[in-house]
Amino acid sequence: MELDLSRLQPSERAAFALRSVYQEAGCCQYRLGRFEEYSLYQANRSFLPAGQLVTFTDLDGRLLALKPDVTLSIAKSARPAPGQILRYYYHEKVCRPSEADRTFREIDQMGLELLGAAGPAQDGEAVELAVRSLDRLGRPWVLEIGHMGYLFGLMDALCLPQTARPRLMEALRAKNAHELRAAAREAGGEEAARALCGLLELCGEPEQLLPVLEQRAVNPAMTQAAAQLRGLARILATAEGSVRLDMSLAGEMEYYNGLVFRGCLQGLPRPVLKGGRYDRLMEKFTPGAGAIGFAVYLDELDRPADPPACPAPGGMLSVALPKGRLGDQVSRLLQSVGCGCPEGYQDSRRLVVENPAAGVRYFLVKPSDVPIYVERGAADVGIAGKDVLAESGAEVYELLDTGLGRCRMCVAAPAGYRDDPARPVRVATKFTRIAKAYYASIGREIEIIRLNGSIELAPLLGLSDVIVDIVETGTTLRENGLEVVTEFMPISARFIANKASYPFRRPGVDAMLDKLRGVLQTEEAAE
Ligand code: PRP
Repeated sequence: MELDLSRLQPSERAAFALRSVYQEAGCCQYRLGRFEEYSLYQANRSFLPAGQLVTFTDLDGRLLALKPDVTLSIAKSARPAPGQILRYYYHEKVCRPSEADRTFREIDQMGLELLGAAGPAQDGEAVELAVRSLDRLGRPWVLEIGHMGYLFGLMDALCLPQTARPRLMEALRAKNAHELRAAAREAGGEEAARALCGLLELCGEPEQLLPVLEQRAVNPAMTQAAAQLRGLARILATAEGSVRLDMSLAGEMEYYNGLVFRGCLQGLPRPVLKGGRYDRLMEKFTPGAGAIGFAVYLDELDRPADPPACPAPGGMLSVALPKGRLGDQVSRLLQSVGCGCPEGYQDSRRLVVENPAAGVRYFLVKPSDVPIYVERGAADVGIAGKDVLAESGAEVYELLDTGLGRCRMCVAAPAGYRDDPARPVRVATKFTRIAKAYYASIGREIEIIRLNGSIELAPLLGLSDVIVDIVETGTTLRENGLEVVTEFMPISARFIANKASYPFRRPGVDAMLDKLRGVLQTEEAAE
């Protein structure tokens, strides 16, 4: 009986197609066991995508883990001889924690690793194979390429201390200009702020961007990185999809040390391909050896076809708009840039409204749900308070601080409250993630009491010692006999974007952003 490929899931078809791409390129399959010694992960925690693992003791008493990552195992066991280049591909399941499901999930991964005497020529080989992989996945694609060498070179040139870098990398990863400016100013003054924020603009067609990169290179690390990107651009000039450089594409800092790249497919909410050069990890196992590779996340391909309210590719820009108090302010702002919702939209029960002239479709959602709609790709962009954004932990771009809905996250307690260090603080809040992170940062043990509203009541009834909540005018606290103990997070509404749709929707999103920035600056100047 002939195999009918059309009956297969997209991920299964992709697995066949990728296997032939990698075999034609001379790569051998690398098969791994399902389990790995726990000690490998313990010794290389910083190279893991997440901290939690599923562990168990085998019949000989060895502590094992379900593999959360393939690269680490290959780097450990493939021992290239000096001068040798090993070319491997794999198709494996890895087991990673899922924050949303509060459990572990198996992830179907296919990938490629070039190990050993793998130099710049292998960077070109790996990126070319990434392009060929994307070509076989059946949708329009974008491959974004960055270079950790360029980034680290710039940070070195600006003499930015190592301790400041994780915060800077996080802001870069989120394309969060306001946070990046603040962190860079603190770490290296105005010049650092200008130079690092300048990286956010270094995103676009290689031919246009390369001269700028070369001109801005101020040390050998940056020059070398720019030269390498120029070499790649030559190789990729004939690629059928779209290859872009993005200098803010900061990978995991300790994992990658050179080229980094990420592939997105139109209509899918998360990147499907991620990779880069990871010499530091390779050298731990084989001194002097280098490595570059990438993984393709096959499960992402099995997402059902676009539902009716989702925008057709290239069609309207979809915006998750918060309902309620913040929504009214946001919608006035959108009105002022010609992207308002239709007249009287608040009076109807419709949850999808459009402004066809502006090419925008709005989804009216509960404010705390905006980050989920955007992270999961149901909307391209959205406007969310920093409180709900931080609480959700959503992986999105944070492109603009609109300054609307300003308030602050506080610890508050009944007047005269004193912390009793002999026991954990009982904290009532609906922001459990934020409260835990704040108390962890000051090293204080807490007991969380999760509530959904009227938080101020908890200490009055002896349910908690303190609350962690937003304070705007302070009226609710005052009228209930509570006082602010500490303010620790300024809040305002942020314009956020889905990380995988942004590369496709960039012209529309940036046009809207520019108009919003213009209006906000004019208002600021008038104040
Ligand atoms: C928020 C917050 C405070 C109040 C603070 O509640 O939880 O209770 O606003 O504002 P103020 O400082 O101006 O008094 P919200 O109105 O969202 O209702 P909730 O109690 O259901 O959370």
